[in-house]
Amino acid sequence: DNYDKMCKWAANYIAAKINNHKKGLLLNRPFVLGLPTGSSPIGVYKELVRMNKAGEVSFENVVTFNMDEYLGLPREHDQSYWYFMHDNFFNHLVDMKPENINILNGMTDDPEGECARYEEKIALYGGIDLFMGGIGVDGHIAFNEPFTSLASRTGVRNLTTDTRIVNSRFFGNDPEAVPAQALSVGVGTVTDSKEVLILINGHNKAKALAETVEGSVSHKWTCSALQMHNGAIIACDEAACDEL
Ligand code: GLP
Repeated sequence: DNYDKMCKWAANYIAAKINNHKKGLLLNRPFVLGLPTGSSPIGVYKELVRMNKAGEVSFENVVTFNMDEYLGLPREHDQSYWYFMHDNFFNHLVDMKPENINILNGMTDDPEGECARYEEKIALYGGIDLFMGGIGVDGHIAFNEPFTSLASRTGVRNLTTDTRIVNSRFFGNDPEAVPAQALSVGVGTVTDSKEVLILINGHNKAKALAETVEGSVSHKWTCSALQMHNGAIIACDEAACDEL
């Protein structure tokens, strides 16, 4: 019905997956969780933190990989995704191990190498079990803007002017202050995950949701790649369904 219910549903889904993994046969292998930034997941993070503090889910055996990071922003910058993730999530968990947190380094002097190593590390863990994501109004997942290959891997991305304008709300409403480039997992990196859980809320995402589930599979709406994935889940609210 609404944002709150969407977030609680998603948090419960993720916690159940982590708990089931622990009970299963793959005890030696951590649960590998892909994570997004943005305003959409904030409620999910709050609920997961509550559950973690209440002893309902443990992150002791969870390894995380974040979707993306702005190129050129240091960790300490309050709009870096490293800062966002620690401020909204990791710092509040009682048993998350810092060494299990993976976030692309936006200050690297070797962006291509940084991205290649990220892909290698994901592979080393045996791939991502569940990738949670958000979506841009233009349908981008991570920073895979329209016309990014649906087979793309982790790499450097140029942000569209539209995305810089949308994200300028966090940069003093100045689109020029938003970094022009980011490091981002590829569409292929996301769809290689066993499951993909995308959060879509609010009327401003209604067109993107309609394109995700009813449009053609096309690099014009990179979110449409999810149609080819048999473990893709969309958690949404009613307002986002306006154009279905
Ligand atoms: C940014 C992020 C995306 C995110 C999108 C939507 O562009 N790179 O991963 O999905 O914003 O953000 P929000 O949830 O704030 O609408």
